Amino acid sequence: LEINKKNVMIIEGSHRIKGNTSYITKKLKNQINTEGCNIKLFNINRLNIEHCLDCSYCSTHFGSCVIKDDMQGVYASLLNADVIIFAAPVYFNNVPSKLKVLIDRCQMIYMSKIKHQDEFNQIIHHGIGFIISVGGAKAYPNQFLGSELTLDLLYKNLSVKLKKHYCFSGTDDIKVEKREEEIGLVVSEINQFIDQIR
Ligand SMILES: Cc1cc2nc3c(=O)[nH]c(=O)nc-3n(C[C@H](O)[C@H](O)[C@H](O)COP(=O)(O)O)c2cc1C
Repeated sequence: LEINKKNVMIIEGSHRIKGNTSYITKKLKNQINTEGCNIKLFNINRLNIEHCLDCSYCSTHFGSCVIKDDMQGVYASLLNADVIIFAAPVYFNNVPSKLKVLIDRCQMIYMSKIKHQDEFNQIIHHGIGFIISVGGAKAYPNQFLGSELTLDLLYKNLSVKLKKHYCFSGTDDIKVEKREEEIGLVVSEINQFIDQIR
C-alpha cells in the first residue's frame, strides 16, 4: 500500500460472480481516482466467513474476534479505509445473506465502541461510505430501505459517514451493462467525493 494514497475498499455482495453488481464494481475498480487511491475489492463469494457466534469474546477483547477466518483481512481493510463502498443486490428488500454474515461479524466493531469506548477504525475524521444497490424489480416503495438501514448502522459503528446510496432498479428488464451513462455518473460523483477528503 502506498501511504500517501487514499484507501478505497469495495465489498461486492452478490451471490453471482458475473451479475449486474460485478459489472458495476469492475467499473469502480478501474475508474475510481486511479492515481490517488489504493483500491481493494472483496467479493463475498470468494471469502470464507463463519457466522457470528454471539460468544461475547469481542466484548472482553478489544478489536478482536474469536473466529480466525477471512474476516481478519476484512477487518484490516475496514480499519484503514478512507472510503468504503458496499455494492450489492437486494434480496427480499435487504442485503444478500452471504453479505449479512460479513456484516454480523462486525459486531466486534460495535463492541469496540460500547464496551471499550474506543473507535475501531483509524480513519474517524474523514471516512466516507457509499452504498450501491441493484434490484431486479422496477422501482417500488422501500425496495432498498432494508439495505440502507443495515449498512448505515454498520457505517455508524465505523464512524464512517454514509454519503450516498445509489440505486439501480429494474435489472430484470434492463441489465446495468446497458446503463453506461448512469454508471458513469455514479463513478464521477464518487470521485468528486473522494477528491474532497483529506
Ligand atoms: C433470493 C433473491 C431475492 C430477491 N429479492 C428481490 C427483491 O426483494 N426486490 C427486487 O427488486 N429484486 C429482488 N431480487 C432480484 C435481484 O435483486 C436482481 O436479480 C439483481 O440484479 C441481482 O444482482 P446481480 O445481478 O448482481 O446478481 C432477488 C433475487 C434473489 C436471487
